[in-house]
Amino acid sequence: MKNVLIIGATGQIGSELTMKLRNEYPNGNIVAGYIPGAEPKGVLLESGPSEIVDITNPQQIAEAVDKYNIDTIYNLAALLSAVAEAKPQLAWKIGVGGLYNTLEVAREKNCAVFTPSSIGSFGKDTPHVKTPQDTIQRPATIYGVTKVTGEMLSDYYAKRFGVDTRSVRFPGLISYVAPPGGGTTDYAVDIYYSAVKGEKFKCPLKPGTLMDMMYMPDALRAAIEIMEADPTRLVHRNSFNIASMSFDPEVIFNKIKEYVPGFEMEYELDPLRQAIADSWPDSLDDSCARAEWDWKPEYDLDAMTVDMLTNLRKKFGIEKPADCKA
Ligand code: SER
Repeated sequence: MKNVLIIGATGQIGSELTMKLRNEYPNGNIVAGYIPGAEPKGVLLESGPSEIVDITNPQQIAEAVDKYNIDTIYNLAALLSAVAEAKPQLAWKIGVGGLYNTLEVAREKNCAVFTPSSIGSFGKDTPHVKTPQDTIQRPATIYGVTKVTGEMLSDYYAKRFGVDTRSVRFPGLISYVAPPGGGTTDYAVDIYYSAVKGEKFKCPLKPGTLMDMMYMPDALRAAIEIMEADPTRLVHRNSFNIASMSFDPEVIFNKIKEYVPGFEMEYELDPLRQAIADSWPDSLDDSCARAEWDWKPEYDLDAMTVDMLTNLRKKFGIEKPADCKA
């Protein structure tokens, strides 16, 4: 991996992955692909090249690949689960049409492709506890349908055309940098914002709603490590279960309260998000990723909570109150 195009570089994952790749591959072109209205700003704009790359426009993808001699494409364009339910046609156009465009360019120009899948690729018939790598995938959301289609299409391009496609099934991703926007797991980000701002958190999911979550530094490392993995060891390609922690709203609330004693939460349920969350696994079995490319998470809920609270306070210039431990 040397010259990399990130499609969706200003989104939740892209804005951090682009910077990490620029730091780790200083001799390559790490190109931030964005759509008008979501321009890169600040250090993301200043630290490397950027290009308008709308994933629904194959010519723009091809031109960026040619211009920078791209060898690897990170395809991060997607609508998250709750937003996708409101715009299913657009979710398909970006998630599947966009992936098809990317794979075709990759086939013609010999690029490797990373396209994240998700815990959302599973459905209510999937075993929910320690969900196996290879199991039933019958999601009921358009987000999940695009993710399962993406996994299969990516495997097809690998087998049929030799395109080096690889991916992981991300849990809910938690970060203090760019907000997610429109996902079912977003509450686990929003709750930290409320905690540092001294606000009561309104939780959209009921107690007992378990889902896999991951701190962004682990997710970014996974996205890079899978693309750098020794291909001869890979039995699977699209997509690997990866996991680091699983919790419900009560567990994360009580963890934050250990550090912010006055923090309060009440429930204000969102039926759409609750139905989506109920159809997703409680926890994933990531033993294949561990065996085939040595995947190992570094952050647990406690370490993530300290880091999130500390960095969000810095971001908003909020002093740590005397009674808070982080
Ligand atoms: N975080 C995503 C969502 O909630 C799941 O991959 O939509």
